[in-house]
Amino acid sequence: MKTLLVTGGAGFIGTNFIHHVLTFRPEWRIINLDALTYAGNLSNLEDLPADHRERHHFIHGDIREASLLDQLFTEEKFEGVIHFAAESHVDRSILGPEAFLEANVIGTFRLLQACLRYWETRGRPGGFRFLHVSTDEVYGSLGPEGYFTEGTPYNPSSPYSASKAASDHFVKAYFSTYGLPTIVTNCSNNYGPYQFPEKLIPLIILNIIEGKPLPVYGDGKNIRDWLYVIDHCGALIRVLEEGNPGETYNIGGGEERQNIEIVHILCDLLDAHLGRSGKESSRKLIRFVTDRPGHDRRYAIDSSKIRRDLGWSPKYCFKEALEATVDWYLNHMEWIESVRSGEYRRWIETNYGSREISLLNNPSDSKMIRRRP
Ligand code: NAD
Ligand code: DAU
Repeated sequence: MKTLLVTGGAGFIGTNFIHHVLTFRPEWRIINLDALTYAGNLSNLEDLPADHRERHHFIHGDIREASLLDQLFTEEKFEGVIHFAAESHVDRSILGPEAFLEANVIGTFRLLQACLRYWETRGRPGGFRFLHVSTDEVYGSLGPEGYFTEGTPYNPSSPYSASKAASDHFVKAYFSTYGLPTIVTNCSNNYGPYQFPEKLIPLIILNIIEGKPLPVYGDGKNIRDWLYVIDHCGALIRVLEEGNPGETYNIGGGEERQNIEIVHILCDLLDAHLGRSGKESSRKLIRFVTDRPGHDRRYAIDSSKIRRDLGWSPKYCFKEALEATVDWYLNHMEWIESVRSGEYRRWIETNYGSREISLLNNPSDSKMIRRRP
């Protein structure tokens, strides 16, 4: 058995990763350390089959707790760490940046320190890996041309991406300075099951189902490069097993879409399910709202390195995976209810309550939308 520490395994990508690993790596055992913030949900991992349950152990705790980390490393003798735990939502980082510094920078630092203590005590085992799951947002914004490569200089725009950039630098410094076998991955926007409904795709799906306004920031023409979460999980396993310490790998789906295009596709997919058409089309719910401050215009990943060096490529087609995601939400309304706590309702009021809602039909008129001070 190979024992892996997964941090943030009750969140969106961590949950999918754990399900994936338990299914496709029967020789792996997982210790899942998660603080269960608003974004973490243990019910994501409740219905595991018996043989999976035996290989998954949940620890409720914070990655900033050095003594807890030392205890876990000593008791479990991890062969590797995959680090998902973070505050992950850009809008929240704008309204409350300090939590991002705490979780993403201090948290990653404490985890690195604990890894280093353990790794040195064990005689610096060559097979040990620390995989830091990071984001393409550290590179900043692209113009209409070009792609992010592993050599693109960091230029983060939001407190979220600044905190992830800082954590990436720490992870790389622990390789250069101490030789700790760390690897960083920078991935584009994920979508799929278990994503918290503050992020674009699940938020729009739920609002369509409930007939609520569909908030589109600015002119809706910002571009993201979308990747199905299961493809991300496949890439992470590949990096853990075959990636080289000290390296960075960019991961992306090559599926660039404007936000407004995503919203239109979701309206059409759900209208087919809900029997809405013509004047009842969900597209009439679209509202262009005050833009996100510092909103990056375009992200697009050049993933040729991971494709060439590790033989990874995405397996899922965008349209089918998005349909599967819509089906998942339609079939898991009880999950949605369970994550919509009082805290969630307060967030929706704070984030959208202060946005000016424009009833313009033509997004190119968005220059008329005033920015928040
Ligand atoms: P998420 O917000 O859904 O989950 C984060 C998890 O981390 C939650 O379960 C939360 O309880 C836990 N957590 C937060 N602070 C913690 C702490 N101090 N100690 C222990 N646990 C803590 O996030 P996600 O979308 O699953 O993203 C996971 C990672 O992947 C993040 O590091 C994020 O930056 C990165 N990433 C996300 C995307 C994306 O599209 N979602 C893309 C690229 C990279
Ligand atoms: O690129 C990877 C990143 O993708 C991850 O590092 C982040 O953790 C993850 O949250 C995601 O960041 P984004 O800011 O790109 O995702 P979000 O779903 O918040 O927004 C996607 C796009 O949709 C973005 O351009 C903002 C826009 N948007 C978002 C929301 C929530 C809207 O137009 N309306 C909305 O209500």
